[in-house]
Parts: sequence; structure tokens; C-alpha cells
Amino acid sequence: MSADNSQGIKTVLQESRTFPPTPEFSANAHINSEEQYQAMWQRAKDDPAGFWGEMAENLDWFQKWDSVLEGDMPETKWFNGGKINVSHNCLDRHLTTGRKNKAAIIWEGEPGDTRVLRYQDLHREVCKFANVLKSLGVETGDRVTLYMPMIPELAIAMLACSRIGATHSIVFGGFSADAISDRNNDAQSKLIVTADAGWRRGKEIPLKKTVDESLTKSPSIEKVIVVKRTGANVEMVPDRDYWWDELMAGASADCDAIELDAEHPLFILYTSGSTGKPKGVLHTTGGYLLGATMTSRWVFDLKEEDTYWCTADIGWITGHSYIVYGPLANGATTMMYEGAPNWPDEGRFWELIEKYQVNIFYTAPTAIRAFIKWGDQWPNQYDLSSLRLLGTVGEPINPEAWMWYHQVIGKERCPIVDTWWQTETGGIMISPLPGLTPTKPGSCTKPLPGVVPAIVTEQSEPLGDNEGGLLVMTQPWPHMLRTLYGDHERFVETYFGKLKGLYFAGDGARRDEDGYYWIMGRVDDVLNVSGHRLSTMEIESALVSHDQVAEAAVVGFPHDLKGEGICCFVTLKSGDGSDDMKQELTNHVRKQIGAVATPDQIRFAAAVPKTRSGKIMRRLLRDIAAGRETAGDTTTLEDYTVLAKLRDEE
Ligand code: WT7
Repeated sequence: MSADNSQGIKTVLQESRTFPPTPEFSANAHINSEEQYQAMWQRAKDDPAGFWGEMAENLDWFQKWDSVLEGDMPETKWFNGGKINVSHNCLDRHLTTGRKNKAAIIWEGEPGDTRVLRYQDLHREVCKFANVLKSLGVETGDRVTLYMPMIPELAIAMLACSRIGATHSIVFGGFSADAISDRNNDAQSKLIVTADAGWRRGKEIPLKKTVDESLTKSPSIEKVIVVKRTGANVEMVPDRDYWWDELMAGASADCDAIELDAEHPLFILYTSGSTGKPKGVLHTTGGYLLGATMTSRWVFDLKEEDTYWCTADIGWITGHSYIVYGPLANGATTMMYEGAPNWPDEGRFWELIEKYQVNIFYTAPTAIRAFIKWGDQWPNQYDLSSLRLLGTVGEPINPEAWMWYHQVIGKERCPIVDTWWQTETGGIMISPLPGLTPTKPGSCTKPLPGVVPAIVTEQSEPLGDNEGGLLVMTQPWPHMLRTLYGDHERFVETYFGKLKGLYFAGDGARRDEDGYYWIMGRVDDVLNVSGHRLSTMEIESALVSHDQVAEAAVVGFPHDLKGEGICCFVTLKSGDGSDDMKQELTNHVRKQIGAVATPDQIRFAAAVPKTRSGKIMRRLLRDIAAGRETAGDTTTLEDYTVLAKLRDEE
């Protein structure tokens, strides 16, 4: 964790380049001066209740709150006594304005089919589906799992849940049957919505089949609703499985949005932590919606006429906050694309930008690295002049990739917002404000209003400029997680147990002399693979569940495209291991967790190096995985020969 000074200084020197927004961009931005930002930030720090109370006037409340903020971290309540509904704020309130006929969602499927849902259309579909859910027994407070492709029905299902106060739990379509059943069981979900299949690189992903497999181990699920997407042949179990379109045909389009408490659970989203069991991050209604709404407006500078496209999958928090809830609460036009960026060819994203005249484009560094590899000839074939703002999220962006994005996609005209946040934070925390912040490639710059971070030591002591340390939040914010579903103790322990009174994000970072934050990556046993969070322990458990595996240790290593790759050290119960065994273990991990966790390297070892107390020596393994010379103190190694053997294997 200790910062390497020579490197730190070198990086700073390299990145003394700053890129201020153009005068035209600033002139039209919602927030456009440093003074305005400073005033907002200071006000929010000194008087959070006053600041957020004022911001909350941007939402439509059935009943005003009694108090903006009660309690302190970790036990906070926002807008207590207030009554609100997310679906009403994303839909109904726009229908009395000119937005009624505006495109809410512009969707394109991978095969090229398209749909546009105006606010009025989306409202109708959501009301109907809310009635469908009710007719199948879903009540306020129940949990509903969504395991779906990137099709408008996913957004419809989310908004329908929020309309009746059912808590949705979305499981990313790349996860396995076991991952679905684990989540169904943890949340005690009553119903699951899926599709026959989804399209990915011209192939059908058999979602319903995977759901069927998960249901052998998900006793809480009573009903399944299936969207017909590809026409794939699926098995339908009578009185359990229903076709979406058949249910919708008979549903009324009349459904009042329920007046919910501000702290009513809106959704659960599972994410990986440093132990094997995924954490059910719980977000609530009023505070989350306020955060998603305001950060969308500030960071993406959303304007009435913009076409906005976030390329994330809705199965991750980015899609929740910045495809669905944030943009729709602002009455914006949000684009959704079902498939892969390289289908039918590597120009697909740029073709979509030209076709729909996209103005704001939000993607991930791992995608940008793939674009660079595919070559400039792809974006250069298309007219990208509609773009006015670019964004990134998910991992630190390397300065080369930042410069490429700036030059080849943004034509040196578009500000880039590098947004740091987490599933737990609900919305963007540290990011440039595009109308004023001079950006530095590789830095997520400064905290948004309402966000008061610090860099501290393991003993919670504040560190100075350019000193690497732990990134924490010192004040609560409305869109923070409230608990880990069903395990409040783990919530308190994970985020507040390490550094008393501070929210610990799990990231290392430094702040430079201009107050800019530079994220240095995770400090816990969490990998960031293509911007997706995976726990080393989860992958280790998956490996050990194979009957031939005695022990496994998983570490990350630098990977050109994914940022971090997955390297597995495996000790077999017998035998030396073979290529067939590698393939078998790879398939086993994919089956246990999903394709996102596919190992990049599997290395067989006689034993894994451990400290005397039995902790896996990950630092050593990381060095071996990366092909670096093993450095550092090895005196605690239980068995030196293990290390020598591992190095021999290279
Ligand atoms: C972790 C959160 C927030 C949606 C995507 C990931 C890393 C995220 C950045 C960034 C450097 C970043 C952090 C964080 N991260 N954005 N702009 N610069 N690192 O959500 O799965 O909850 O992961 O992603 O390590 O802790 P997540």
C-alpha cells in the first residue's frame, strides 16, 4: 500500500497536462464555474441537511419529509416521514409536460431491430406490468429477481417493481444458475422475470434454460415470467411459467404508483467482497433517487435535447443508476443496446452513435482498450460530430487510453468525465464537472457536492498530498447503501469496522497538490476484471468445490485488455495436472460463477505458500502471476521450496 515515491513523482510529472473544457461547453453547462462548485461543495459539507433538502425539491413527493437526515454513519435515515415513488418520478410527472411524446428509451437489438418508447408508452407498459406482477401475487415489500437481456422489458420490469414497492434484485445475464439460486435464496425472491434467450455476438444465450436449472435450488420462487426475445425453444412449466406477452395482453394500463416511505427498499444488487459470499447491497427509495437524479444532471450535464448512451449492462449498478433511474428521472432520452460492441463488426458502437446522433457517451476503460486494439479505422468510418461529452467508469483509466478517447473519439473537443463510485455508493462520488473542471488523464479529479472524502492511514490518520493511503468518506450521503440484505452486522463490519466512523471504500488512493484524486486500485482481496468486481475467495471456493482440487489461491495480474486477469494456483489431490484438467477447471469455474469469472491462467503447484498463520501469501503469488521477480520479505514463508517450485513452473 505504501506509495512508491519515485513512481508517484514520475506519474505526476507525466500528467501535468490538464484539459480545460472549451468556452462553448462551459457557457452552456448547468454548473460552469469553479466558484459555483466551491460554494455548492462547501454548503453541502457544512449543512448537508440544508443542501440535500433543497436538492430534493427537484423530485416529486407525495408527502414532504419530517427531517432530511437522522443519525450518523452507519445508521442514517434520509427524508424520514417523506412519501415518494421512483416510478412516478421517472414517468408520471413527465406526462403533464411536453415530454409526454418524447423518447424515453431508444433501443436497438443486436440483430438491428429497433424500438422507441416515448414516456407515454413506457408509462403504459410499466403500469400494465405492475398489474401483472400483482396478479401473480407480488406485494409491496416482496423481492423479485430479474435475469434478462438488455431489452426494454428489463427497464419496464424495474419500474413496475418500484411502482408497487416490490424490491428488485437484478442478476447479470452472464452469471450461472448457481449464482442465480444463491441470490434468489439470499433475497427470498418470490418471482423471477427472464427471457427465452438473448443475443450475444450472433449467438443465443439460453437464459430460460439457466433459470430452469437455478430453480431446482430456489424454493422461494413461485412464478416465472418469460419474455419472447429470440424465439428459442424453451420448456414452460404449467402454473409456474407464463409468457410476458400473454399476461400483458390481458393487463389493465391503470395502476397508481404507491406512496412509499423514503427509506422503503428499492433494490438489492449483489456484489463481491473479500469473502466468498456475495453481498446484497440494499438501496432505498428517496435518497437513492435523489443521488441518481442530481449526479446525472451535474456530471452528464443532461439537457432536454440530448441523446444519452451508457453502454453498461443494466445488471450492474452503472446500468441501474445511469441507464434507467437517473436519466429517466431527469426526463432524458436514454439509449439501450442489446449486444456486443464487435458485432457484426468492430464499428458497431460508432455506427450507433452516428445513427442516433448520440451526444453523451459513457463507457468503461476496458472497452476503450479493446477499441484501441481494434484500430482507429473503425471509429474513423463514422461521423461522431454529435458527441459533446464522454465518460468512463469501472477502473482507473490509463493515460494512454484517456488520450486516445480524447483524440480519436472526442476529437479534442469533448470533456471526459472519469467517474469514481461503487455499487455501494449508489451514484457517482468523485468526478469532473464537465463545464468547469480541467481534467488530468488518469485522475477522477474532485468530489461532487455532498461528498467529503479523505485519504487516511490504517490508523485513520489523515495523509498529506501525494501520500498513498485508504480512500474513505467522512460524511453520509443520501444514495449510500443502507445495509447488506439480511446481514446488517456484515454491513457495519465491512464498511465501518476497519476505520471507526468512516466509510471505507476498499480502494487505495492519493490526492495531489491540486486536490485531485488518483485511484490506485483495491486494497482488499477483490479483483477488478474488465470493470467487474470479483472476489478471489469466490473463485477459490469454486475451484475447491471440484472433487480433484485440494487447495486453490487466486490472484490478479496486469492484463492488457481486462485491466486485471485471473490467475489460479491449484493444488490437486493427486497427479500433476494436465491441459485437460485446466480446461475442466475453467469450465467448472464458469459453471459455478459465470463467464465473467473465466480464469486466464491456471497453474498447478505442489502447495500454495502460506504464512505461519495460514494466510495465503498473495503478494508473492501476484509477483509470480505477473512474471515479476519475487521481491520483499519472505521470512514468514512456511516452506521456501514451495516458492521455488512455483517459479520453476514458469
Ligand atoms: C470499484 C467499484 C461504479 C460502477 C462500476 C464498478 C473501481 C470504479 C473507478 C474509476 C478508478 C474505479 C474501484 C471501486 N472503480 N470507478 N473511475 N477510477 N477505479 O462498480 O463493481 O461496485 O466496483 O470499481 O475500485 O471500488 P463496482
